Amino acid sequence: MPGYDRHFAVTEAFGVTMLNIPLKEDGPDMDLVEKYVSEDPAVKGIWCVPKYGNPAGTVYSDEVVRRFANLKPAAPDFRIFWDNAYNVHHLDFEKQRQILNILDEAEKAGNPDIVYVFGSFSKITFPGSSVSGLASSKANLEDIAGNMKYQTIGHNKIMQLMHARYFPDREAILAHMKKHAAIMKPKFDAVEEILSEELGGLGIADWSKPDGGYFISFNTMEGCAKTVVAMMKDAGVTMTGAGATYPYHKDPEDRNIRIAPSFATLEEVREAIRIFTVVVRLASVEKLLSE
Ligand SMILES: Cc1ncc(COP(=O)(O)O)c(C=O)c1O
Repeated sequence: MPGYDRHFAVTEAFGVTMLNIPLKEDGPDMDLVEKYVSEDPAVKGIWCVPKYGNPAGTVYSDEVVRRFANLKPAAPDFRIFWDNAYNVHHLDFEKQRQILNILDEAEKAGNPDIVYVFGSFSKITFPGSSVSGLASSKANLEDIAGNMKYQTIGHNKIMQLMHARYFPDREAILAHMKKHAAIMKPKFDAVEEILSEELGGLGIADWSKPDGGYFISFNTMEGCAKTVVAMMKDAGVTMTGAGATYPYHKDPEDRNIRIAPSFATLEEVREAIRIFTVVVRLASVEKLLSE
């Protein structure tokens, strides 16, 4: 944690109990993952966003990918849900980050069925309505196809054809993502510049400096995130709700706020983040005075 709100919403809707795993610089706390997965047969799966993760921009190290591939689950039907949603979403094409292919590593580890890898064109072409893909072992794909035949009688072939024509190869996808980066990078740079100018070195906040993806993860002092988001709303700026980045909307420390600079214009981003820094200072002072 923090993580992607819809992963939590889907899991909650299916009535599955969720446990928090702290996110480190290079991926989840693998000691804890291994402990839960190997000791408890009630632990059936884990969500992962392995590259430029939502919201912290985390990129999993080779060691983390290998440890996932080598898990020895107590539950025979344990699966890793490897949502590689930001695979090509580099902010700076000179600094492209790469991760190990978990399917190869799982195969090498004699664990071919442990992972479902998926991604989509949602944040490339059309959100929620484009084309998605799934990669896994033959046995897993056959199992999933067996269910999918009841879910749909056919996919949107016009949409598939549009994508196949627009993106004849990987290079075409990367060329398109460079255009996204040209829009996104100045906004991310503006956020970083204003945050470090106004809050750097004060010891009241920290935030991620991602090389890709669509978010910046911001941490206030303990117990301030909800107040900051509410004060921002009063000031006319709507942000993702505090707590949204945790299962059940419960951030145990009430610290994390997801900043999404993609939609607003560069000028709006600059203005909103300036207001944000004032609000964070105010909320921090109030907290310090109350202690
Ligand atoms: C990690 C992650 N996965 C998936 C999605 C959405 O993709 P799709 O529309 O294909 O479900 C998002 C969008 O924000 C995301 O951040």
